[in-house]
Amino acid sequence: MRQALQAGCRVDEPRILIVGLGLIGGSLAAALREAGFGEGERAAEIIACDPDAEEIARGIEMGLIDRGGTVLTPLVEGATLIVLAVPVLAMESVMGELAESLASADVRVVITDVGSTKAAIRDCAHRVFGRLPANLVLGHPIAGSEKSGVAASNPRLYVNHKVILTPAAETDPAAVARVRALWAACGAEVLEMGVARHDQVLARTSHLPHLLAFSLVDTLARQDERLEIFRYAAGGFRDFTRIAGSDPVMWRDIFIANRDAVLASLDDFEAGVARLRQAVESGDGDALLATFDRASHARHYFDTLLNQTSYQAEYNMQQSANLRFRASPGGSVTGRIRVPGDKSISHRSIMLGALAEGVTEVKGFLEGEDSLATLQAFREMGVAIEGPHQGRVIVHGVGMRGLKAPAGPLYVGNAGTAMRLFAGLLAGQAFDTELTGDVSLTKRPMGRVADPLRLMGAEIDTAEGGRPPLKIKGGKALKGIAYNMPMASAQVKSCLLLAGLYAEGETRVREPAPTRDHTERMLEGFGYRVHRDGDTCWLAGGGSLTAAPIDVPSDISSATFFLVAAAITPGADLTLEHVGINPTRIGVINILKAMGADLELSNQAEVGGEPVADIRVRYTPLKGIDIDEAQVPLAIDEFPALFIAAANAEGITRLRGAEELRVKESDRLQAMADGLAKIGVEHSLYPDGIDIQGSGKTAGASYGGGHIDSLGDHRIAMAFAIAALRAGDEIVIDDCANVATSFPGFIDLARRVGLSLAQETEKEAS
Ligand code: S3P
Repeated sequence: MRQALQAGCRVDEPRILIVGLGLIGGSLAAALREAGFGEGERAAEIIACDPDAEEIARGIEMGLIDRGGTVLTPLVEGATLIVLAVPVLAMESVMGELAESLASADVRVVITDVGSTKAAIRDCAHRVFGRLPANLVLGHPIAGSEKSGVAASNPRLYVNHKVILTPAAETDPAAVARVRALWAACGAEVLEMGVARHDQVLARTSHLPHLLAFSLVDTLARQDERLEIFRYAAGGFRDFTRIAGSDPVMWRDIFIANRDAVLASLDDFEAGVARLRQAVESGDGDALLATFDRASHARHYFDTLLNQTSYQAEYNMQQSANLRFRASPGGSVTGRIRVPGDKSISHRSIMLGALAEGVTEVKGFLEGEDSLATLQAFREMGVAIEGPHQGRVIVHGVGMRGLKAPAGPLYVGNAGTAMRLFAGLLAGQAFDTELTGDVSLTKRPMGRVADPLRLMGAEIDTAEGGRPPLKIKGGKALKGIAYNMPMASAQVKSCLLLAGLYAEGETRVREPAPTRDHTERMLEGFGYRVHRDGDTCWLAGGGSLTAAPIDVPSDISSATFFLVAAAITPGADLTLEHVGINPTRIGVINILKAMGADLELSNQAEVGGEPVADIRVRYTPLKGIDIDEAQVPLAIDEFPALFIAAANAEGITRLRGAEELRVKESDRLQAMADGLAKIGVEHSLYPDGIDIQGSGKTAGASYGGGHIDSLGDHRIAMAFAIAALRAGDEIVIDDCANVATSFPGFIDLARRVGLSLAQETEKEAS
């Protein structure tokens, strides 16, 4: 660690003065020492001022500071960076002393602070200096401990912690850069935000929890004068109240200084406690469960953020490391496996389960980021949902009119299906909603759902070009329409059918080609009549749904990567169990069979209105084909993998009529063409398709290796991972974290059948 810190030590300050040598100031000195500050040719010192002479003596003894004293003025001369680490309410008098001693001092001096509230300190600078000095950079390291005093100093206190700087327009950028360098040397991650935002965020995430911990311990201690209760207070009490041991003076100052923001967060908290009190009083188990479930999942999600294992939140996505797949050339494909549950059906099971009367039990639910985003969104709308636990989810339906307004925008991550289906469902609610998503989703077209919904009477705002976020006005009376879909899209069809549940009269959708019909099947399963005549389906609004059990089959779109893996690998013999073979999804089977693949279906059955089968694939050489355009919507998500099959087949495979591929999680035609070019597969790209020249080889390598950018698209990443089975060299694939949106556990399963696949994380910044 020491070396790592040293490597980052770019603190070019001849003398740093720390005012207030407690835990925070002392740890800063300790971290700087650890980073190598003051070593080497150029003399540099750390000095400190503290009203307590013993703290100074201890700091010198511990080797943290070179010297110090109890009076500020004589120490200021010659200091180039002054760090104010005193309690918030002591700031004004310290700044006053500084203002006098600095009048004649070096203009290069930079002042910063570590206070937990920023507006109060900024105001006090205004009072003292008559303005906000350009060399004052307000800051706040988000780190601490319930311990206090210099003796508790910890050189690693700031490692991987955030430091928030709140520079104003008048702050000198060079001064900001020097304060950044100071904290970076301590191993911290430095961020910037406005003063008001800082104070609101900290009131909620730090000040409120401290207030509650102080209050709980005090309340219990008063009730039990002999403190007998603490003898029995283990687990929960201990975990919840650790921070009540923090420095009382420091916290008194914080609450006085950040009064307004703390009061606002306390109001929200009191309202939440009042709701829980009411639920406890009236024995409302559903309300308790809904709150606890939401909180429990939010807490687990927070853990994954802390552990850097999730990328669902956009903030984290921007910060997160590049997850890279490394696929070694060759390998085998044998065995029996079951891939995770169907993404489309999983989304719909939560949506319809939530709107139904009664309890819906879901088995085989896909615990991928996309369907989990849907689940989380319904929790935020007040639906009690248990699980998921090993694919089992229990949804306590609230009925067609039982959803509640969420507290903020609903974030659906990478999930286009969630956003489009939600748009229809939310257009019929009494409350306003906003739908947001990650960077990829924010680029995808939503006009295709917003336009017909507006025809039904919905009021929806989109960003420019019909992109997310979607702002949906509640309380609009919807009327049924007859809609001729301009593109073959199950998402658009489903969106309109869901809006149609809330519309007056009939909602009819005509599709230019058959698209997946899971919404219609599941509605029927929940007792809601959906009619179909040829290319048109319709329903009448105003009905209700009755909960029904759902058994989610394995996702044929995920199975596809293994179907193709086996189809291109000499000697392969693989069985995929319990795969959904809904006729609107089997384009991949039809196309692979047309290419000559050896696929055998067995154990055909129907589960919960959806057909399933085991699929066995054995290697046999493939031939290039002209893909039947009618198969395109039936195989829409399978093309990235099918292009890899084409690259191994004999002759040319031609695809046309597939312009929809350009508006998926990435422009899949372009992304695949770029990747194929990298590994040396000849192809010609067209606006609505591609021609791929296959190698036709029945042994050895069909193409080379290379470094691929998946563009954060899960299916591009998995397609090139299986391509390595026939590559002459390693295939390295960047930006693979989103594989978890549809296929958690892909790497493990791929290894189990015989692929040689590893993953690694690379910090983008390095
Ligand atoms: C889906 C429909 C398809 C598909 C997507 C899931 C669904 O999108 O690509 O992965 O669950 O309805 P389109 O309907 O936009 O083609």
